[in-house]
Amino acid sequence: MAYMRAAALADLWEGEMMGVRVGGVPVLLVHLDDGLHAFVDRCAHQAVPLSDGTLTGEVLVCAAHGWSYDARTGCGLNPAQARLQSIPVQIVGGEILVDVAAPRSVGGAP
Ligand code: FES
Repeated sequence: MAYMRAAALADLWEGEMMGVRVGGVPVLLVHLDDGLHAFVDRCAHQAVPLSDGTLTGEVLVCAAHGWSYDARTGCGLNPAQARLQSIPVQIVGGEILVDVAAPRSVGGAP
């Protein structure tokens, strides 16, 4: 499937995150100093939306029970074995596009 529009880049400043639905998939967009990252917006613990949590620097913390993740990679910080599903993301003409149908990678090695 082709990339689909998720949001305008102007609506997601560096250091911010937002949850959106694209093609029926809950998507978490994170804007860091190295660019955009996208994950399925569900905690690996009990599937609570991570967009309800907090982003401090590159550390993403779930609001429900405090599991934390590296927002660059989707790898768990606590617990370390937790993983988020990455979604391909690109910026075209000021729009954030995601491919929710692409095979999802699961965070890299810790
Ligand atoms: Fe995220 Fe429990 S659902 S820490």
